[in-house]
Amino acid sequence: MSRLGHSLLLAALLASPAAAQNLDSLLARMTLEEKLGQLNLLSAGGRASPEQMQLVRAGKLGGLFNVIGAENTTPVQRIAVTESRLKIPLLFGLDVIHGFRTIFPIPLGEAGTFDPEVAEATARAAGVEAAAAGINWTYAPMVDIAHDPRWGRIAEGSGEDPYLGSLMAAARVRGFQQSIFATVKHFAGYGAAEAGREYNETEISERTMREIYLPPFKAAVDAGVASVMSAFNSIAGVPASGNAWLTDTVLRQEWHFPGFVVSDWTSVIELMQHGVAGSQAEAGRRALTSGVDMDMQSGIYVDSLAALVRANRIPLAVVDSAVMRILRAKLRLGLFRDPYRARTSPSAAETRALARRAAGESIVLLKNEPVGRGAACCAPTLPLSKTATIAVIGPLADNKPEPLGPWHTLGQAEDVVTVLQGIRARASAAQVVYAPGAGIEDTATAGFAAAVAAAKRANVAVLVLGERGDMSGEAASRASLGLPGVQQQLLEAVAATGTPVVLVLMNGRPLVLEWASDHVPAIVETWFLGVEAGNATADVLFGDVNPSGRLPVTFPRVLGQVPIYYNHRNTGRPPDPNNKFTSKYLDVPVTPRYAFGFGLSYTTFAYSDLKVSPARARVSDTVTATVTLANTGKREGTEVVQLYVRDEVASVSPRVRELKAFQRVTLKPGESRAVSLRVAVRDLWFIGLDMKPVVEPGTFRVYVGSNSAEGVEGGFECIP
Ligand code: NOJ
Repeated sequence: MSRLGHSLLLAALLASPAAAQNLDSLLARMTLEEKLGQLNLLSAGGRASPEQMQLVRAGKLGGLFNVIGAENTTPVQRIAVTESRLKIPLLFGLDVIHGFRTIFPIPLGEAGTFDPEVAEATARAAGVEAAAAGINWTYAPMVDIAHDPRWGRIAEGSGEDPYLGSLMAAARVRGFQQSIFATVKHFAGYGAAEAGREYNETEISERTMREIYLPPFKAAVDAGVASVMSAFNSIAGVPASGNAWLTDTVLRQEWHFPGFVVSDWTSVIELMQHGVAGSQAEAGRRALTSGVDMDMQSGIYVDSLAALVRANRIPLAVVDSAVMRILRAKLRLGLFRDPYRARTSPSAAETRALARRAAGESIVLLKNEPVGRGAACCAPTLPLSKTATIAVIGPLADNKPEPLGPWHTLGQAEDVVTVLQGIRARASAAQVVYAPGAGIEDTATAGFAAAVAAAKRANVAVLVLGERGDMSGEAASRASLGLPGVQQQLLEAVAATGTPVVLVLMNGRPLVLEWASDHVPAIVETWFLGVEAGNATADVLFGDVNPSGRLPVTFPRVLGQVPIYYNHRNTGRPPDPNNKFTSKYLDVPVTPRYAFGFGLSYTTFAYSDLKVSPARARVSDTVTATVTLANTGKREGTEVVQLYVRDEVASVSPRVRELKAFQRVTLKPGESRAVSLRVAVRDLWFIGLDMKPVVEPGTFRVYVGSNSAEGVEGGFECIP
């Protein structure tokens, strides 16, 4: 647990008998309206409105969000703690997702670092910047597993894998909670929106929910997350914001979550649209009695529930429990002691340096083929020479706002270093010619001629293509996964010049890259990297940073393969190219274009000598897989060594592979090292026929390698 997480808990524990008594007596002094007021959360437009200030004075608000800047939070907090009858301080929430003012890579990109320490550090820095602006509560981390890149919010999470997602979730909670409260969201299953269409219903079996979608939430709860946000979606017909199985049975009874649950934006009133409540009061009753403590933005609890409590349609004890959870959170946060929580800003230079490091580690090199003939043959396209003539082309090449990506809080375009600027700064001896070619969603091709002319004059063309920052994030589903507008044509026109092309991608989701993968020698996935996008990209393009990012999500060949993910089950007829009647497509290979965990380096790595010990292990044992990793190339590089497990035979059809451990390992050229990864056998559970987690005796295959589709193999036997 984080230092502040610790100190917050410690403070609460040390003070606990007296503090608890104080809270009890506070509760005893509250009117029903004041109690429901604590459960009411409203959004402001930067600062609290006069009406909201009046609600605070009347004890009818427990928190506000989107009040930004201590100059705006302090006056309204002063009203709460000096003018309201009970002087209960307010929570101040905000969506601090991947940075506050200093914007870091989008969470999906950062998951590709496979480096939870980086995720913890960026969350910590974001939290500290937000705290200095009066914020004490963020709505992050978002931990929704997603298998469908049409869904725009895939950008906000850690991709498709529950193990990687859990480590990232815990790291971010630890990071944020060094200064502000975190909220793990969206509970649960939101990432399984049917057809990738935002806010859509989901059909998730309890087994899949527990094996795939819930583990990152559990990890956040175990890391001490203060709050959980209930999701918009329904699961098999039961909306998540009125779902007692999720918020009561699983979260509170099984996981013993001590914090509070906040609804998503109007998700309480939306129970009416879902068709499970016929009136606002019914919607509020359903949500509150299911375990949603705080009503974000519907206003229903405070407006409509008092009458139901008085009519005994909602037990007062339910209201009291919810209120106590909010009060305990405020106590744990230290708000009763220090309601204004004045914090100083961290050093901007340090935070920028962290942004550059995180951005550099997030970049994934997808392709790097040799170009040139004869004497020039056959060096890989990247890294670029710092003295070359470089054509920098594309609508995102010199674009400042888009690298901020979705949910960039107070991020400013002026803070962004563009790729063009990064290239110019890195390679002052290079001849750089710039031509945008087209806009992101243009239909016009008038700019192509200048781009083609620039490419013709250059040794290499760097094309920076992709999506607008707001084409992912909330309410940003896409039904196609290609490059928007005429960017594909621009790419083809530039490639037709014969000048080698480096495709630099900016995007918030996996894209379909069939043509580029077949025709372009080098492809660099940069996601949305934040303020240091241009510097970090140039660091990689010129080889000052050797790429080490790996894909946290599968890239399909065509949209028709979606949903596609590596940890699927085998089927009774696994794909066999020689047998028509097996699980595959007639028109495309069944394999993805780029597998989960994939990413190249400017050096090469070789794996050998996998030893798994002990060969026979009990459920209480830990198995160690040791492999020899060699840097077989000419540069120092960092490999993400990945360990996958496959249960060979089980009472429920096992997944073909599951990531269970990984480690970033840096080796000098020619160096080799024994790398050991440990897996607790008890972590190899699945949900058995009786719907309980079980590890069954039998053989487990172990794969250690550089992505989910490769690796050296070994195994062990789990004995009873
Ligand atoms: C709706 C989004 O779904 C959620 O993620 C966010 O935290 C809230 N709005 C508050 O802005």
